[in-house]
Amino acid sequence: MNQADLIWMNGEFVAWEDAKVHVLTHALHYGTGVFEGVRAYETARGSAVFRHQDHIDRLFKSAQMYYMDVPFSKEQIREATLDLIARNGMKSCYIRPVVYRGAGPMGLYPLDCPVDVFIAVWEWGAYLGEEGKQKGIRATVVSWRKIGQDALIPIAKANGQYLNSVLAKIESEKAGYEEGILLDQRGFVCEGTGENLFIVKDGIIATPTYLSGVLGGINRAAAIQIARDLGFELQERQVARDELYLADEIFMTGTAAELTPVREVDDRPVGTGEPGEITRAVQNVFEDALHGRAERYADWNDVVPVPAPTP
Ligand SMILES: Cc1ncc(COP(=O)(O)O)c(C=O)c1O
Repeated sequence: MNQADLIWMNGEFVAWEDAKVHVLTHALHYGTGVFEGVRAYETARGSAVFRHQDHIDRLFKSAQMYYMDVPFSKEQIREATLDLIARNGMKSCYIRPVVYRGAGPMGLYPLDCPVDVFIAVWEWGAYLGEEGKQKGIRATVVSWRKIGQDALIPIAKANGQYLNSVLAKIESEKAGYEEGILLDQRGFVCEGTGENLFIVKDGIIATPTYLSGVLGGINRAAAIQIARDLGFELQERQVARDELYLADEIFMTGTAAELTPVREVDDRPVGTGEPGEITRAVQNVFEDALHGRAERYADWNDVVPVPAPTP
């Protein structure tokens, strides 16, 4: 992880070393925050944030679901992010905005605590590895189930909820796999610890839905659109666990992992054990879209304005 010079905190740019919070920050005790994972890529038009508005919309929705009023407008957050990338001189980076309950009265009732916001950026390579993107990763179904809609709000990207993913990630890593797959409360396939999941069988793509408690992934939406634009049939439906073992192809999508094929699940090869044709077709267009090379999806790239030269 390559650190940047500046972090944006509550409207100010502060040095990376000085971006600190009080120990009585409510979110530190109870996980009362929401966040986003966003990426900017180098494109021919300059550095550009992928599906920026969608991430900001989801951030605000997540905040609303946890009763937090973001003390900035969506446009202020967008401009702060673009400015932060430019001031840090970054071409491609990972972007992490967090909206959280700051230091205030302790106890579980958070509504009297302030709502604070920061945005950090750093350079970060492919989360599941460049080799994983090329050759596919090994995944396993973990023992932890995805949090149910009757306990928390899986559709919200809330900090505290990620203890679920953390347990799943540790279990899968300790067992020697690159990623864990969580089932939902009823035993249907849900998603990876930080990615949505797609299976391909007999030329048809399928991906689990909100019924299974998936996060409404922005790259999930992008992959769905790309697959359909390429003419593939894509079903959003419940996916049974054994379909993972029957699948010809499996891939995952997420901001951190981008589009990563899965070559093995629970020690069984997926299809031929190599990324399949449909995965490759969607992945190629997806990569083009990320890097601003796909004319059709050009409005998915929010270009960082270059400051005018000082006379
Ligand atoms: C649990 C979970 N599912 C899915 C995703 C993929 O979402 P997105 O494509 O918006 O990054 C993420 C990553 O944010 C995640 O944390």
